[in-house]
Amino acid sequence: MRITTVGCGYLGAVYAASMASIGHEVLGLDIDQAKVENLNAGISTFHEPGFDKILQEALESGRLRFSTDYLSVSEYEAHVICVGTPQQIDSAGADLSYVYAALDSLIPYLDDSDVVVGRSTVPVGTAASLVERLRAAGSNATLAWNPEFLREGFAVKDTLHPDRIVYGLPEDPGGAARARAVLDTLYASMLEAETPVVTGNFATAELVKVSANSFLATKISFINAVADVCEATGADVSVIAEAIGLDDRIGPKFLRAGIGFGGGCLPKDIRAFMARAGELGVTEALGFLREVDNVNNRRRDHLVNMTRHALGGSFTSKRVAVLGAAFKPDSDDTRQSPALYIASKISGRGANVVVTDPAANHRVQAERPNLAVADDAYEAAESADVVLLLTEWQEFKDLDPVRLRGVVGTPHMIDGRNALDPARWRAAGWTYQSMGRP
Ligand code: UGA
Repeated sequence: MRITTVGCGYLGAVYAASMASIGHEVLGLDIDQAKVENLNAGISTFHEPGFDKILQEALESGRLRFSTDYLSVSEYEAHVICVGTPQQIDSAGADLSYVYAALDSLIPYLDDSDVVVGRSTVPVGTAASLVERLRAAGSNATLAWNPEFLREGFAVKDTLHPDRIVYGLPEDPGGAARARAVLDTLYASMLEAETPVVTGNFATAELVKVSANSFLATKISFINAVADVCEATGADVSVIAEAIGLDDRIGPKFLRAGIGFGGGCLPKDIRAFMARAGELGVTEALGFLREVDNVNNRRRDHLVNMTRHALGGSFTSKRVAVLGAAFKPDSDDTRQSPALYIASKISGRGANVVVTDPAANHRVQAERPNLAVADDAYEAAESADVVLLLTEWQEFKDLDPVRLRGVVGTPHMIDGRNALDPARWRAAGWTYQSMGRP
């Protein structure tokens, strides 16, 4: 199938390359000339395992190219909107301006037989408003809603081998048949692999996505709330997570207590969901998400307080090594990163903070010039009064506690991700603290 993808950020670039890799002919559109040039040269603008390879292969196959020019859009039959929907600067709601701009850019080139596929995460009701926008502009193109569920760090795998595919179809039977036919062709290889397809109307498809992210956020805040109780009682939250996770109604995933969730999705999605519920007159229905957000924010401040205690009550002129800046391992994304929040807060209170991250150092330098950056953990920890592990990269889990002890000023480790083995670190002479574990 000949498709365009609009927006070549995280979602769009991975989607474009992945779709080309399974045989579609893809034109990736973006307004950012530099990004388009980099992608056409096979250069990724973000850190994502496996993406560079799939991008280069797709470019070499001749089935993928990127452009800022919409003129050839009319030669393509499906158009996939992959732009971001960040939190608005002055409210909790999602900023839909990129979604509307994407549709408006496509409209002049759409035939009535074309299908526009929305993949961005949007508040419920957005797809209906996009149909109105199409019709108001005189277009009879069909809209389908097809939310994405990719995780950073696993983006290629999640795009090519999803757990499920959601089809949000229009009410009119002709449009629904057309949309389904296009989606079936787009995802033919996944359907052959018996990936479950769940079908609903637009509102259902939109809500599947925000419900999934809200549930994941709730699971994390739940276990973090339990971690608080563990700290007050001497219980071990990781053992509790293991035990409750063995109940297959609960499951073991997303029960890792620590400094909480960040990134470009979970925080803004729960806030946008609450904001939309307010607009729909059902504020109370999602009141619990406010507490999910509060629990999450308190985790970061809790780690700041633990650090202050470890330093004897004052940050002034103390050396603090921060291992990790990205919001999760295998990503260089620092949006809403708990690690970066904590590093900045501690630095703002007078400590000399040295951060190191295997992939995100360049972002730290660009976004937080007040923070010093080191090439690796051993360099960051030189003469440190305390070491904070804030993103659980494998290379930090593999650190040698004996060697690290040789470089620090005081061997005190605060493990914000419960990623290290307490016995091993204590045996190497460290004071070791973690989150919700004795
Ligand atoms: C999330 C969802 O997991 C994806 O399914 C969804 O498609 C994506 O948002 C999106 O909306 O595009 P992502 O933001 O890549 O994916 O990150 P997650 O893997 O969900 O992790 C989010 C945060 O939760 C990270 O900061 C991570 O460290 C934290 N986390 C995760 C925990 O603190 N504990 C856990 O047990 C799991």
